[in-house]
Amino acid sequence: MQITLTRPDDWHLHLRDGDMLKGILPETTRDFGRAIIMPNLVPPVVTSLDALQYRARIIDLLPEGDDFIPLMTLYLTEATDPADVAMAAKTGTISAVKLYPAGATTNSDSGVKNIENVMPVLERMAEIGLPLCVHGEVTDPSVDIFDREAVFIERVLAPLRARLPELKIIMEHVTTRDGVDYVNSAENIAATITTHHLIINRNHLLVGGIKPHYYCLPVAKREAHRRALVEAATSGNPKFFLGTDSAPHSDPNKESACGCAGVFSATNTMACLAHVFEDAGALDALEAFTSLNGPAFYGLPPNAGKISLTKQDTPVTFPAKIETGAGPVTVFDPGFPLYWSLT
Ligand code: DOR
Ligand code: ZN
Repeated sequence: MQITLTRPDDWHLHLRDGDMLKGILPETTRDFGRAIIMPNLVPPVVTSLDALQYRARIIDLLPEGDDFIPLMTLYLTEATDPADVAMAAKTGTISAVKLYPAGATTNSDSGVKNIENVMPVLERMAEIGLPLCVHGEVTDPSVDIFDREAVFIERVLAPLRARLPELKIIMEHVTTRDGVDYVNSAENIAATITTHHLIINRNHLLVGGIKPHYYCLPVAKREAHRRALVEAATSGNPKFFLGTDSAPHSDPNKESACGCAGVFSATNTMACLAHVFEDAGALDALEAFTSLNGPAFYGLPPNAGKISLTKQDTPVTFPAKIETGAGPVTVFDPGFPLYWSLT
């Protein structure tokens, strides 16, 4: 069996920098035409100049003849200058701005503590039609980690949308039915869904021993939420599209007493997704999810190229780890054999 799709894009990707970037970049560019590049480097990508320089470092490391396009983002801080954001958008340097609540996840210390302090930037973005990517979790220590997405919707997202309904928002890596329902109920808002959240629930993370390579943020939720995500992704609804959140950390940093959050799925994402969509009887909705809905929300044309996925009779093997100059990075294990491969 073979299916042909418009070349996919990844609307949420961590590429890191230096030796890690060099080691993992081909894992994405092999399959994807474009990706929204997350700005949570150390230090973060906060100005248009930072974004230009980071983009140049990525392009420098692209394999010969590779036409992958990195779509850059700025990391929103309480000191972000609305004029710099507007200029970066106008010149095509950036495609979005990323809001991390301070302390929500990896390298988010310079994120936003009080949304009031970034309203001038958000107002400018609404005016010029620049999308805001949101890490949708509150950081209030009294809120249970499994409830942080739902509470974020209530405390931050709904009030923000009431104040600035024209602002285009992407609720990144949605993990709950609450998130799916909210996105469905409102205008000017879409959501990315990761490969791993379509496959694992919190049992995979915790039952039978803690599995550090399944630990990510937002943390995987209970099975009913995973099913809601599969339903949304396979529905063809243009509000939902792929953002892998593929987030490499070296194995020593994952397999630790205080392991980093992040699942690295760039290598086998398309094979995993073909499996999930086939399982749901929705292979015909795969192209919308991976290749059409994202560009439509961002106001970009779909990629010109095509890819073909072929279902093999025997399992396809992917490397268990990618060796990089920054150490080995374990590839996401979906927990079932994969039969689809890119041809
Ligand atoms: O699991 C995650 N890893 N979630 C995030 O939000 C950040 C990311 C990372 O940068 O490692
Ligand atoms: Zn991320």
